[in-house]
Amino acid sequence: MAVLNGKVALVTGGASGLGEAIVRAYAAEGASVVIADIDAAGGQALAAELGGNARFVTLDVTRQESWDAAIATCDRIDVLVNNAGITTLGSIEEITLDQFRHELDIDVLGVFMGMQTALPKMKAHGGSIINMSSLSGVKASSNLVAYNAAKAAVTLMTKSCALHFAEKGYGIRCNSIHPGAIHTPIIDKVLAQSDDPKALYQSFVDVHPVKRLGRPEEIAAMAVFLASDASAFATGAEFRVDGGASV
Ligand SMILES: NC(=O)c1ccc[n+]([C@@H]2O[C@H](COP(=O)([O-])OP(=O)(O)OC[C@H]3O[C@@H](n4cnc5c(N)ncnc54)[C@H](O)[C@@H]3O)[C@@H](O)[C@H]2O)c1
Repeated sequence: MAVLNGKVALVTGGASGLGEAIVRAYAAEGASVVIADIDAAGGQALAAELGGNARFVTLDVTRQESWDAAIATCDRIDVLVNNAGITTLGSIEEITLDQFRHELDIDVLGVFMGMQTALPKMKAHGGSIINMSSLSGVKASSNLVAYNAAKAAVTLMTKSCALHFAEKGYGIRCNSIHPGAIHTPIIDKVLAQSDDPKALYQSFVDVHPVKRLGRPEEIAAMAVFLASDASAFATGAEFRVDGGASV
């Protein structure tokens, strides 16, 4: 039986990578999916392929007016997946202040605005918020100073909101997913920033005791669980899907 029948889910960054895999899995499980992304071509193509169960809305997660417009198109929202993100490579000695700010704008402020803007609609009936953190939200790397800061912020912001929603009795759960390295376009973009992409790729593999990168579908399966009523007692938790990398 489809486990997301009757639920409306908005997925940011839904046009590519993990977001796309989550959109596909949600549609397959009977949800009505809103693909929210700055990539209009990719998002529209995916919505057209999935047909009646999906539609595209333009969203820049860094702009409040863009959030207001996207949320206004939804009659209801049961599931919000704050997945859009970037990864900026660089140590404290390499990264510029502008790069650091840009990383936080998308990966932290985007998540904050998403939760704050969707909340009034979700409070009407309860639901599930899923924030895409990372292995890098619980484990540091010398060359990921901005990304570590951003994803650690998402990890604790998620818990703060989970506590608040519980205290208020809103019936809204809030959890974070922490993928290890998953082969999506974001990985190719990170490799492109490196002087030695082959060595960097091997270093991603070596981080995982299972000796491989993850697949987008393996993260989507966790996102389905957290969106479904099967996870009704889970809130404020870190769901690590990382081939043992954080152990
Ligand atoms: N791929 C991995 O190994 C990995 C590991 C851990 C965490 N993550 C996290 O998972 C999430 C998705 O990553 P991915 O690998 O699918 O990346 P991706 O680059 O394939 O997809 C990111 C999507 O976000 C969209 N996006 C970027 N900026 C945006 C903005 N300002 N507004 C709206 N949409 C925007 C892009 O258009 C794209 O569709 C990110 O938050 C990332 O940090 C990825």
